[in-house]
Amino acid sequence: MSAVRGEFSSRFGFIMAAAGSAVGLGNIWGFPTQVASNGGAAFVLVYLVLAFLLAYPALMAELLIGRFAKANAVTALRKVASGRFSKNLGTATGFYGIVVASLILSFYGIVAGWMLAYWMEPLASLLGLRDGLVHSLGAQLFFTLLFMLGTILIITGGVKDGIEKWSSRLMPLMIMILFLLIIYVFTQPGAMSGLKAYLIPDFSRIGDRELIISALGQAFFSLSLGVGTMLIYGSYISKQENLPVLGGLVTMIDIGIAVMAGLLIIPAMHVALENGVEIFDASGALLAEDALVFTVLPALFDSMGFVGTLVGFAFFALMSIAALTSSISMLEVPVAYTVENHGITRSAATWWIGGVISMISLLVILNFERFFGFIVTFTTQFSQPLLGLMLCVFVGWIWHRDGILDEIKQGNPDVELGLFWKIWPVYVKFICPLIIVMTFGNTLFG
Ligand code: TRP
Repeated sequence: MSAVRGEFSSRFGFIMAAAGSAVGLGNIWGFPTQVASNGGAAFVLVYLVLAFLLAYPALMAELLIGRFAKANAVTALRKVASGRFSKNLGTATGFYGIVVASLILSFYGIVAGWMLAYWMEPLASLLGLRDGLVHSLGAQLFFTLLFMLGTILIITGGVKDGIEKWSSRLMPLMIMILFLLIIYVFTQPGAMSGLKAYLIPDFSRIGDRELIISALGQAFFSLSLGVGTMLIYGSYISKQENLPVLGGLVTMIDIGIAVMAGLLIIPAMHVALENGVEIFDASGALLAEDALVFTVLPALFDSMGFVGTLVGFAFFALMSIAALTSSISMLEVPVAYTVENHGITRSAATWWIGGVISMISLLVILNFERFFGFIVTFTTQFSQPLLGLMLCVFVGWIWHRDGILDEIKQGNPDVELGLFWKIWPVYVKFICPLIIVMTFGNTLFG
């Protein structure tokens, strides 16, 4: 039925791939903008707590199901289940995840296309192209397609020669650019007041319902949870590896890079203020989201002359690279399913599915107002928590505890004696579903 399955060749390869999936626009753009609009360090604190207490256990659930079944989400969830009803529920959940992963890629590709355009802007002006050309509608279509092409090419290479190879190359490069940018920004006047704004929490915001819901959504998106991305990456891990440790490392890298990105962006905004760039909106709040990345930062780079051009170039390279190691993990979800369950070759499956998702992206660009916000809300606010809940139900209520223990013991024989096994099973069974239901109810009806 299926060709030989791929596997990550090393622990480092897996960590780079999974951290590459986790670290993306969600960390470098989403996290700092959320911090900026949610009371600075108050958001950081809530986020840290939720990421460790909620996202990490959910990540472990996905990695475990994946490695146990060594299969795509549909097959894996069916394998975990025993009754007819729960098997069908597994099929439904797996498919839902595949659709959501594909839709996330369709909007992610658009945003990544903007990053590519800003990245290429200095080159375009060197070549003497008309100002603003890279931001025209045609260019938007072009850069989104270019980004999707890169995603497709990497995924046709498979697990070891595609995902692992490119994640292992690009992640260290990305981290290096991030550090260089932080060092540079800290030499600029104004950076210190930004640092203060970032590190001193506005405690009055900490119990804010809005803030908690945003932090939860951010944590789920950032760790690529719910849609089967981590499940499929888990399925490529060797049985010799210690999963709770690997999952913990990936969580820490993801959180660490989000915090570092905040250390870049928030001080950069205050440097911009120092240089006379407007960083507050009419109500006195910090400009956030698209205004931050596409107005404030470019204005900052402009105000710095030639060095600014270089810094801007590095910054948008950082964004584009981070996006690419994430987008490949989204495309892998539908591709793995199609290859394994329908006997289609990897390259045919990748080109077809990647092609269809690219078409969806183009349609969304052409009907931006109508579709973009809707897809983002449907996938990230609605579907991801729901799918996360389903996965917790599968691990906590459907999969037999002995089966889970057998799986987790591989690569970690003493796990039964440790803290992880005392806490985690209760956690995914009761606490995670409860928190998800509560915040989810709040998003829907609050
Ligand atoms: N985690 C990535 C980011 O922070 C995005 C991502 C990759 C993702 N795979 C995913 C989000 C699957 C949701 C589901 O940018």
